[in-house]
Amino acid sequence: MVNIPQLLQEDATQTSEWLDGYFDALKDASAQHLLAAMRYSAMNGGKRVRASLVLSAARLASSQQSSLASSQQSSPASSQESYQPAHLAVAGAVEMLHAYSLIHDDLPAMDDAELRRGVASCHKAFDEATAILAGDALQTEAFSLLSKPGLMADASRQLELCAVLARASGVVGMAGGQMLDLQAETSASDPAQTKIMQELKTGALIRASAVMGVIIGGGDKRMQNAVDKFASHLGLAFQIADDLLDYQADADQLGKPAGRDAEQGKASFVELLGLEEARRQADSLIEDGCASLDQFGDAADGLRGLAQFVINRNH
Ligand code: IPE
Ligand code: IPE
Ligand code: MG
Ligand code: MG
Ligand code: MG
Repeated sequence: MVNIPQLLQEDATQTSEWLDGYFDALKDASAQHLLAAMRYSAMNGGKRVRASLVLSAARLASSQQSSLASSQQSSPASSQESYQPAHLAVAGAVEMLHAYSLIHDDLPAMDDAELRRGVASCHKAFDEATAILAGDALQTEAFSLLSKPGLMADASRQLELCAVLARASGVVGMAGGQMLDLQAETSASDPAQTKIMQELKTGALIRASAVMGVIIGGGDKRMQNAVDKFASHLGLAFQIADDLLDYQADADQLGKPAGRDAEQGKASFVELLGLEEARRQADSLIEDGCASLDQFGDAADGLRGLAQFVINRNH
């Protein structure tokens, strides 16, 4: 049985240490102020759910590769593949992309939030211009990581990683969803529109993280599709849980402002369906999503545990 809190903790620690090393290696950059803002926002805690999704999906894919290899008796199965540098580089890249999205999300022109992960948000700790640039640079560093020559033996798979993350971040992904989120503040939204907005602003990067994990772990297209289906349910459930917490928790617990969604007129399932029905939808999304993992047996326990964590978390 997988110990999920321990797994998340270990994934988070390993990813954070890896990112720390990455920023250290940039110590000779001329723009040290910008680097400080990037480090501030990428390193200040965070649950590292997206990193853990990459790593858990990579473990699932690697375990399939190992059992294939051992059934063909070509090489011994390895259980020590989860923290390969290449896996951590991909986990680091999605966390950089995510940190960028949070920095920009908090800007006065967007959600105008002064607190993030229990400390001043980037534009408060630095200033708006620096925060915009820190977001921009974190985004491009993410792609620099993924495109680094030699990250994978098969460069065409690196290209796949770049394409998946780019698509998930742009107009048909996170940025598009953020646009719809802002537009919904001043116009009425129905459940179908709200679902699309949530799938884009949050679901797209969650899906990309899981799919990129399968790619880096050497999984096949069938596994990619199954894990993608799981993650598309997870992504929606993730945002419903975030919206529930905004209504039910306080800033101390969340490390970010609470109660703002109602104040700012955000579209959400909580607002449209009420607390109980939103909670019920999150639970049933997780159940349906996990059904896509049945075919993988125990090897997918890490992903199942993450899904439970996502809807039961308290921050
Ligand atoms: C917050 O994401 C933004 C949303 C997409 C809802 P997380 O809840 O994963 O934030 P951190 O990384 O743990 O701070
Ligand atoms: C943000 O959604 C989604 C992103 C792409 C960053 P929210 O605006 O609800 O995220 P929080 O609540 O500020 O973390
Ligand atoms: Mg927002
Ligand atoms: Mg916000
Ligand atoms: Mg929120």
